[in-house]
Amino acid sequence: MKSISNAIGFFDSGVGGTSIWKEVIALLPNENTIYLSDSKNAPYGEKSTEEIVALCKKNTAFLLQKDCKLIVVACNTATTNAIEYLRTHYNIPFIGIEPAIKPAALITKTNTIGILATKGTLNSNLFEKTSSNIRKKIQIKETIGKGLVELIEGGKLHSKEMTTLLTSFLKPMISKNIDSLVLGCTHYPYLIPQIRAIVGDRIQIIDSGEAVAKQTKAILSKHHLLNTDKNYVPQHEIFINKEKTSLENLLKTIEGKKICITEKDF
Ligand code: DGL
Repeated sequence: MKSISNAIGFFDSGVGGTSIWKEVIALLPNENTIYLSDSKNAPYGEKSTEEIVALCKKNTAFLLQKDCKLIVVACNTATTNAIEYLRTHYNIPFIGIEPAIKPAALITKTNTIGILATKGTLNSNLFEKTSSNIRKKIQIKETIGKGLVELIEGGKLHSKEMTTLLTSFLKPMISKNIDSLVLGCTHYPYLIPQIRAIVGDRIQIIDSGEAVAKQTKAILSKHHLLNTDKNYVPQHEIFINKEKTSLENLLKTIEGKKICITEKDF
């Protein structure tokens, strides 16, 4: 039997899913959390569906052992390739993350939206299913962000290589008249300042973080697992199976939270 003090579990192929985790802890400040950064196996986006499912099973087993009450799959690639498997095989609520193409389709004026995501996400059956209806009315310009996750994991967020790579992905989309850009990978919100510098002010940048946090709250509430005790001081544990420096750098801006980062093989 789970109780409200059990932690919310999170996993991602690496450090990127902390962009989602940050939104969740901002909206739900009384919740204990455990985040798994499977950086050793990044990037997931170049792997087969079978390999991604196997990694998701390993991560889920770890979080279940820690008695998590709900798991946020803080990775578009893992969600689009494995969420159905996870929901069928485990008796715990899962929150998944998919590229926010529906909100982008609602606001576009040029009827053309761009999406930057991994190969694993863009080639998945789930993405194909979600995007097929939208494609009837809106043009979707897809770009695989090959190499971006590796640079972020390697601590090269603010590097010349990053600017060159991002420019090569974004310029062709801009010339196709996109007015919204969907960030379909949880690593990419960390690139928003660099992306903004390339695309200018006229393109809306859309990610799924806030929507996922709201959905997490709704599902916890539905299962009577939301911690509403305002005096509760939560603990945040992060496990990473590689060196933790790039992760620590990404989390520098978070103040006033008790966060414990452990390097551990899993
Ligand atoms: N953060 C993952 C995602 O949202 C990155 C995938 C990868 O490791 O390639 O898709």
